[in-house]
Amino acid sequence: MEPTIKIFGNQLLLARELVQELQHKTRAANENRPFTLALSGGSTPETLFSLLGNQFSSSINWDHILLFWGDERCVPPDHEESNYGQANKIFMNKINIPQENIFRIKGEDEPEIEAERYSKEILEHTKSINGLPSFDFVLLGIGNDGHTASIFPDQMKLLVSDKICEVSNHPVTQQKRITLTGKVLNNADTVAFLVSGENKAEIVWNIINNTKTAKGYPAAHIFPSTGKLEWFLDHEAATLL
Ligand code: 6PG
Repeated sequence: MEPTIKIFGNQLLLARELVQELQHKTRAANENRPFTLALSGGSTPETLFSLLGNQFSSSINWDHILLFWGDERCVPPDHEESNYGQANKIFMNKINIPQENIFRIKGEDEPEIEAERYSKEILEHTKSINGLPSFDFVLLGIGNDGHTASIFPDQMKLLVSDKICEVSNHPVTQQKRITLTGKVLNNADTVAFLVSGENKAEIVWNIINNTKTAKGYPAAHIFPSTGKLEWFLDHEAATLL
């Protein structure tokens, strides 16, 4: 299935559309099973999170959503670099979501043990397709080096790992991360890349045009096997398209 590419004048318009898509998808979801949503970290989703916590805090039925993360930094939840901490501060502490619906990666725990624990939690709470966990919706960003989740260009093997979660290392800071693997990301019903800023324009162009350069970007290897791939781009990130 060809990816859909949506380009917006600014991050706010982009975030509004993504909220509306989440509203639609969660409403249409199978009422016999909660909707499983995996969030990304980084700065790009902040506008989206802010909308979810403010204008749209009561327009999504959070009782019916299970929140996961595509990756987490191995830091405590109250650390400024925690993806969970960021989401909690911006929107989760402003919405009525049952605590039992929030499945955070415990960045404060021993990474290998936590990766194992989180994998089991994912297995328990997501549907299975082709023997692998399948999320209903996965939100991903793309780093300046083409990484996505916490799968970095020097750790491409995590794209084909048979595990559900793996421990990775940020190539510059060596900070340990826990990340969903490529096979699980590609097993989702919908993967949405949320990308903004001129500094990502060349990476976006290379990936969407499937260039030789893109082969070195982990994000270029995210293409759901049976699901949908969606690009939510602001005008700057889409400059070269
Ligand atoms: C993380 C993210 C990571 C992020 C990209 C883009 O934990 O940092 O999950 O994959 O999405 O690095 O980050 P920005 O949105 O800050 O550019």
